[in-house]
Amino acid sequence: MQIARTIAEITALRKHLTGNVGFVPTMGYLHQGHLALVRQARAENPTVIVSIYVNPSQVNRKEDLAGYPRDLDRDLELLREAQADIVFVPSDAEMSPPGFSTWIEVEGLTRQLEGASRPGHFRGVATIVAGLFNIVRPSRAYFGGKDAQQVLVIRRMVDDLSMDVEIVAVPTVREGDGLAMSSRNVRLSPEERRAATVLFRALTLARELRDNGQTDAGEVRRRMTQLIEEEPLAQIDYVSIADAATLEELSAIDRPALASLAVWIGGTRLIDNMPLQ
Ligand code: PAJ
Repeated sequence: MQIARTIAEITALRKHLTGNVGFVPTMGYLHQGHLALVRQARAENPTVIVSIYVNPSQVNRKEDLAGYPRDLDRDLELLREAQADIVFVPSDAEMSPPGFSTWIEVEGLTRQLEGASRPGHFRGVATIVAGLFNIVRPSRAYFGGKDAQQVLVIRRMVDDLSMDVEIVAVPTVREGDGLAMSSRNVRLSPEERRAATVLFRALTLARELRDNGQTDAGEVRRRMTQLIEEEPLAQIDYVSIADAATLEELSAIDRPALASLAVWIGGTRLIDNMPLQ
């Protein structure tokens, strides 16, 4: 496994590659969710490149950036085991040198949900992912369904700007009790960790209601909200039943829909989602 720290280094390595390149962009502190992406990329491409970069422009609060968990040695060990070929670990100076002033703004899709709660977040994501695509020049790039809105935003950008890369979405990897794996889960106290299952329970309720014929989206949102409010450590940011393609809120579940939510568990904000057919 080779490690590149500069754009010049990865460009030199990339030059010698033939055949498809599978790319997995991450912010590190890897867990089984990230590794599922790497494994799928490994299965589908002769070369796998992973990037580790905590992107300051997508993190809203300075404290989040300083407090973002990092463990590069452990990440590299996990990536060696998962048989990644090249890991790109750029510095801030490399990714946004002095004078950097170009941004990609995906309109529409980024107004709702995470975009509404975290202004500027998707502008940071789209810009860094576009930059990474230009550097790595992947054939396929792998993203987790856990961040469903991110997948839609990246697909929109790739289509609109005719980027020659296939976007592959990988299903969410969960703990045994349903909690979606996340780098943020390490911040939960044991009591909060138990409370955090409320996200999956609310999504499961939404799916059950829909499977049993409930098409009133307002009623599904109310029932999810009620369930979460029964958990004293949980504080709702949003509960959404939206069109799976546009993320516009639905009144009737009469098309492919996405149930999604953001909930504070103590001081940790968690997100999760589940498609409703
Ligand atoms: P990060 O949060 O590190 O996630 C990297 C990738 O792993 C994302 O595509 C995310 O959706 C996926 N992922 C995280 N948890 C997962 C889980 N439980 N199951 C499946 N996939 C999971 O997302 C980012 O970084 C950044 O926005 C990035 C795309 C790297 C741009 O900076």
